[in-house]
Amino acid sequence: MTFHIRSLRTNPLALGVAILSLALLPASAQTDSEHKKPPARWMNSSLSPDERAALVVKEMTLDEKISLLHGTGSADLGPVSPLAAQSNGGAGYVVGIPRLGIPAIQMSDAAYGVRSSGENGRYSTALPDDLAAAASWDLNAAYEYGALIGRELRAQGYNMSLGGGVNLAREPRNGRTFEYMGEDPILAGKMVGRVMSGEQAQHVLGDIKHYVLNDQESGRNAVNVNIDKRSMRESDLLAFEIGLRESNAAAVMCSYNRVNGDFTCENKYLLADVLKKDWNFKGFVLSDWQGAHSAAKASAAGLDHEEPGEIFYGDTMKKAVQSGQIPMAEVDDHVLRILRSMFATGVIDDPPEKSVVDVVGGFEVAQKIEEQSIVLLRNEHSQLPLEVSKVASIAVIGAHSDVGMLSGGGSAQVDPPGGNAIMPPREGRTTWQAHIWFPTSPLKAIRAKAPAAKVQYNPGTDPASAAALAKASDVAIVFAEQWESEGMDLESLSLPNHQDDLIAKVAAANPHTIVVLETGSPVTMPWAGQVAGILEAWYPGNRGADAVAGVLFGDVNPSAKLPITFPKSDADLPHPLLVKPPKQSTTESGDAEAWKKIAKGLPAFQVTYDEAFKVGYKWYDAERKEVLFPFGYGLSYTSYSYSDLKLISGKIVCLSFRLANTGTRAGAEIAEVYAVLPASAGEPPKRLVGWSKVKLDRGESKEVTIEIDPWYLSVFNVDRDAWQLLPGDYTFLVGSSSRDLPLKESINLK
Ligand code: BGC
Repeated sequence: MTFHIRSLRTNPLALGVAILSLALLPASAQTDSEHKKPPARWMNSSLSPDERAALVVKEMTLDEKISLLHGTGSADLGPVSPLAAQSNGGAGYVVGIPRLGIPAIQMSDAAYGVRSSGENGRYSTALPDDLAAAASWDLNAAYEYGALIGRELRAQGYNMSLGGGVNLAREPRNGRTFEYMGEDPILAGKMVGRVMSGEQAQHVLGDIKHYVLNDQESGRNAVNVNIDKRSMRESDLLAFEIGLRESNAAAVMCSYNRVNGDFTCENKYLLADVLKKDWNFKGFVLSDWQGAHSAAKASAAGLDHEEPGEIFYGDTMKKAVQSGQIPMAEVDDHVLRILRSMFATGVIDDPPEKSVVDVVGGFEVAQKIEEQSIVLLRNEHSQLPLEVSKVASIAVIGAHSDVGMLSGGGSAQVDPPGGNAIMPPREGRTTWQAHIWFPTSPLKAIRAKAPAAKVQYNPGTDPASAAALAKASDVAIVFAEQWESEGMDLESLSLPNHQDDLIAKVAAANPHTIVVLETGSPVTMPWAGQVAGILEAWYPGNRGADAVAGVLFGDVNPSAKLPITFPKSDADLPHPLLVKPPKQSTTESGDAEAWKKIAKGLPAFQVTYDEAFKVGYKWYDAERKEVLFPFGYGLSYTSYSYSDLKLISGKIVCLSFRLANTGTRAGAEIAEVYAVLPASAGEPPKRLVGWSKVKLDRGESKEVTIEIDPWYLSVFNVDRDAWQLLPGDYTFLVGSSSRDLPLKESINLK
């Protein structure tokens, strides 16, 4: 299913559409270039961001205030202001107030790299996708991921990122699963928090999205998600809560969908009660691109800023303020939140200056992160790593692996240097929902690792000829792909285009068959038992092929673990069939009035998350379902042993255990800790509460200590509207995956 409404995604600079009158806009906002020296009072950095913002607000006219509360438009989503001509070419542009020294906000999508670089004649690095980053379970790598994006945003002249996707993978067929951080709220929350911290340390405004429960793309502008409070607090909301607590991200983007009856962007419970009051969020809430549906209701509920234009937060809001329908204090709060975030992240004190993007440095970071993110799922008879001296011939098959590796689409799409590796010349640019291969060639990378071997390519389109090549080779490496994007969901977790058949035929022809997956979601693998090796490489970024070859030939010892369960089949999912919208809840492709219908609110259809907080492994555990590969699973070229678990209970529970590298290579093991809560809690069988990624030389062992945040052991008590640590027996399980936990100790918490 595709949604035409995001199909143009046109750069506002290139517009010739409905134009708002310049006269409607504040004179002060019209020319960013007329910078006057800002009054010193709020430029005094010894004042707090709140004090500085409050000083500015006092000086502002109503028009100036309103000008900060909306963007300047986007061609496919309603009217566009002429001021959009001053946009840096990103997804959002908010005029500055030169008279007061307040710069414009230049926003760019930046999920796995800065978007729209191609159409703007710039370059940006494509990191491995966000789910891949989560597979590293490495908080430092996550920080580096964010820092790189932050640096490249600044180099391109942006001061706000629209990355930070952290919707839980409640529905793994969601076409944006690759933009998110997996199925566990603690892992996802901590990882996105680090990405945000890395970005904001570069003095750009960070943004966490899409708040919340936007867990499927089908009918996203209409769907009403039904879920009870406790379940949402302990699952999807918890990921956001942790991410914000870890990072103080400047912004939260509310999503397109409804939750329990109200659109999230005008949902008082989600915005005012939970986000702003309970979590004490000091930043601002901006709508997803046409996620706003009202002025007064949204403003009272806590929406601070409308994107991309001003359907509600421009003139309509001004009139509502003038008529007393919207109190000025509410407007001031919206403005204050935006300004205090700008002061807090440093975008006013240290505005970005355009510079040359560090391309080479970016390639290195992308490769390093991918090396930590590739998950080794199967390695029968230690087929991997390949020994160069023993392999005389290699068949490289499928997924355009002669020229490139796949990337995820939609507003996350990063433009490949040189254009799409498989498109003919001049068509090598990225267009909305085109399948984009980055020019990182597995065939070349494999040839470079095995220069003496005969390495031959077969496209895999004819399984018989691929099998024949495999049969004639010592080793067959099949690259398989599952493309996904914003604006669509996967029909199923099966590999498309008969790739299962291809793999089965190649595996039947050669027992030394290795499958390398380029997917944004889990996939089913009816052939898993027939192949010798399986690597999940995700959408691997600019340098994917080098990273994959490094793992195949053992220069890199894999150390990643799945941040998401790979089920055996769609039938095992909480909802074997994804709920599709009825016709009236969608808009037609090519309908120029679609944005008006969306603004009004398309008729709702219902999705009920009755699996509640049993997301991912919690569901499979509770249902006692076998899975293909469990959450937290991933192999290494060495082996580890776990022993001597001790629990030390003080104010917080602290665990220590011995982890030994019992194999023949240095490696890094992600040791995972799960807790079983007292039966009275009524929770799923277990939850992840901590982990540590530990580097160990061959033969080395270490005492690992992990402190458990009491919050992670708590349940959300709806009556008290608070987290509660229940008294009772807690069992801690430690090991290498959610289904391999050899160590176990219990403790009673009062
Ligand atoms: C997406 C957001 C994105 C925005 C701006 C929306 O369609 O859902 O994730 O940031 O567009 O491009």
